[in-house]
Amino acid sequence: MSPGDPVLVVNGRSRTLDEVSDDELLLDTLRERWRLTGTKEGCRSGDCGACTVIVDGRSVLSCLTLTREVEGSTVLTVEGTAQDPTGAVVLAAFEGAGALQCGYCTPGFVMALTGLLRERGRHGDVAGLLEDLQGNLCRCTGYATIVRAVVAAREAAP
Ligand code: FES
Ligand code: FES
Repeated sequence: MSPGDPVLVVNGRSRTLDEVSDDELLLDTLRERWRLTGTKEGCRSGDCGACTVIVDGRSVLSCLTLTREVEGSTVLTVEGTAQDPTGAVVLAAFEGAGALQCGYCTPGFVMALTGLLRERGRHGDVAGLLEDLQGNLCRCTGYATIVRAVVAAREAAP
């Protein structure tokens, strides 16, 4: 890597975009190119939330984001969440509430909630958080445990 090369900082590590084409999705760059498979592929059309990651502090759907579009940004994926103070709280809340079964949707929920709590801390109300998480779908849990995790994460948010 040389100074001036296009890069993305992912979970604190600088990654070169030299071989990334203009039409490559961030989802594919993360999963296929860099083997960060914690980010899940669901619908590939923006409808399930499984592919959510945080780019420059805001949650985005990586299946609707071109990698080149976010060149120079800082990306947090579920693999780096434990190192993020808010992410660590969210992970603990999901674990404590038993808010997963197959776990396929969990990285998306964790990243989306981490992004929301980083923006709002404890100031956002639970109803607003749940409303903003409506784009994240789970086929297994019936959502009750996920709601408990959201409540717990908000209470413990830094
Ligand atoms: S895979 Fe991106 S929203 Fe479903
Ligand atoms: S835990 Fe299986 S899809 Fe949510």
